[in-house]
Amino acid sequence: MQTCALSTRQLNLWYGLFHALKNVDFCVYANAITALIGPSGCGKSTLLRCFNRMNDLIDDVIIKGSIHVEGRDLSTIDIIELRRSVGMVFQRPNPFPFSIYDNLVYGLQTHGIAKKCYPDIVERCLRAVDLWDDLKDRLHKPALELSEEMKQRLCIARVLTIEPRIILLDEPCSALDPIATMKIEELMIELKERYTILIVTHNMQQAARVSDYTGFMLLGELVEFGETSRIFTSPSDERTEGYITGRFG
Ligand SMILES: Nc1ncnc2c1ncn2[C@@H]1O[C@H](COP(=O)(O)OP(=O)(O)OP(=O)(O)O)[C@@H](O)[C@H]1O
Ligand SMILES: [Mg+2]
Repeated sequence: MQTCALSTRQLNLWYGLFHALKNVDFCVYANAITALIGPSGCGKSTLLRCFNRMNDLIDDVIIKGSIHVEGRDLSTIDIIELRRSVGMVFQRPNPFPFSIYDNLVYGLQTHGIAKKCYPDIVERCLRAVDLWDDLKDRLHKPALELSEEMKQRLCIARVLTIEPRIILLDEPCSALDPIATMKIEELMIELKERYTILIVTHNMQQAARVSDYTGFMLLGELVEFGETSRIFTSPSDERTEGYITGRFG
């Protein structure tokens, strides 16, 4: 039996009066890539953000139902500990306006990791995203001078420094060209050996290429969830079929 690294039961979320997530039962298996797909506004980012409590920062949000991270009720997990086990990568690469090196040690400082470990961690994480050879001689240059693809790789490396076990990615390739996208997809496939990955994507081809499991959302509901190969070949819900065959969305 596979274990759920992330799961929800009867999860409902309202932004004020707007019901954005409806009775969502969801499971993200450990050490696999799960994709969330669905038309704009269906609640993909909202569901993703529940897992690291980013919605808590928004006024007027009401959340009902349960959310578990590695088998523990989210409400019992200290936020600093949660930030350490669940990393997040955003749509637009968002390096801090510091040097490459300082971007990478930022989380280590926050979590009180001993300074003497920094150089090794920086090298390990840049190697993991295949940036070490390119950047090792310019670690103290501004991160904002990198190409968009390198910035996004750097943001992934920055998440890896604190050794999360789970990585959330919200449309991480939408600001990238097809070649850069392909490289990030290859990276995700390498990372799933050691990490659990949940990715939101608008791009159905991307979901089909990289993910092991896919969830299809529509109007706040998780309409269907299962192995990606099945979802894309024989979905059981006609709404899923309508979406993947391009009838709407
Ligand atoms: N902070 C907020 N306050 C009020 N409504 C919100 C807020 N964030 C999102 N919503 C609404 O909740 C619904 C779901 O939004 P969400 O961003 O989760 O969708 P999405 O599937 O990620 O869409 P997209 O593909 O466009 O990113 C949308 O109707 C959106 O307008
Ligand atoms: Mg979104």
